[in-house]
Amino acid sequence: MLSSHFMALETGFDAPALAAAPRMLASGFEQDLVRALVVRPHEISPKYFYDAQGSRLFDQICELPEYYPTRTELAILADNAADIAQQIGPRAEIVEFGAGSLRKIRLLLDALEAPARYLPIDISGEHLEGAAADLRRACPALDVRPVVADYTQRFTLPPPVAGSGARVGFFPGSTIGNFTPEQALQFLQRAAQMLRGGALLLGADLIKDPAVLHAAYNDAQGVTAAFNLNLLARANRELGSDFVLEQFAHSAFYNAPLQRIEMHLVSRQRQRVALAGEAFELAEGESLHTENSHKFTIESLRELAGRAGFRAGPVWTDAQNLFSVHWLHAPS
Ligand code: AVJ
Repeated sequence: MLSSHFMALETGFDAPALAAAPRMLASGFEQDLVRALVVRPHEISPKYFYDAQGSRLFDQICELPEYYPTRTELAILADNAADIAQQIGPRAEIVEFGAGSLRKIRLLLDALEAPARYLPIDISGEHLEGAAADLRRACPALDVRPVVADYTQRFTLPPPVAGSGARVGFFPGSTIGNFTPEQALQFLQRAAQMLRGGALLLGADLIKDPAVLHAAYNDAQGVTAAFNLNLLARANRELGSDFVLEQFAHSAFYNAPLQRIEMHLVSRQRQRVALAGEAFELAEGESLHTENSHKFTIESLRELAGRAGFRAGPVWTDAQNLFSVHWLHAPS
């Protein structure tokens, strides 16, 4: 903020522009966190979990004994790779929403017949270039074409390469569960448009014993708690706020009527936080809602996809019905 202040002086901006400059330059994170602390109940997007430290913690979550989704989805993809590859067909263009799952796409690519191109879409150009470079090293024959975009918004894909087969979307990890039902419908509607004539391969976590769900988000080692609290640590690092992490409790529970895990950071005491030059009061027991992770039944997911314009095809699951992978045709 200081350097922009001096820059403004040098370029001869007038006084009102100078006064407004810091606010205008506020990051999306700062703006959204300020907003979250102003509104009640306090709520912020889970996308802010994923700075470098948050991404490392998420990778650790995926290895936890209690966190079944990642290993179960990987096993479903591995066990059914031939079947899935047959659905995808030769010379496919694979469009991945997000670029965080190299292991998952590798499983698929290895089973595919002459994939034409792989297009990972991610909002972080840095993360995308890193993932693309890793994949090029592992699969030198593959045409990797990263697209920097926010896939929750409208965006356009480059035209298909000559002679390519179907365009197939890949959205693993049950990331769809982070959306509200309305956002999920809108995302799927746009995906059906974008992938017309092709399909979407979608991973969705399933409704199950609440005790199993609860354990997956309340691991014994406290990694999920650290992941949740990292949102405040990140704010302290990047925004210069003064959250005292010990004064917040990780809270995650299954909201059965809404069929979702909710994660919150609960204020352990009445306290005041400084952020962006302002002070925010939190009452004892007041919460900042940091994430929803919706769970589905196979039928509810197929019904949602149908409303978005897809024709639901085969579904692959594990023996315990923990997780599901759906083949959704996008009509031409
Ligand atoms: C990456 C959104 C699928 O909801 O299970 C893991 C994130 N949050 N533990 C999920 C997460 C807490 C994860 N998703």
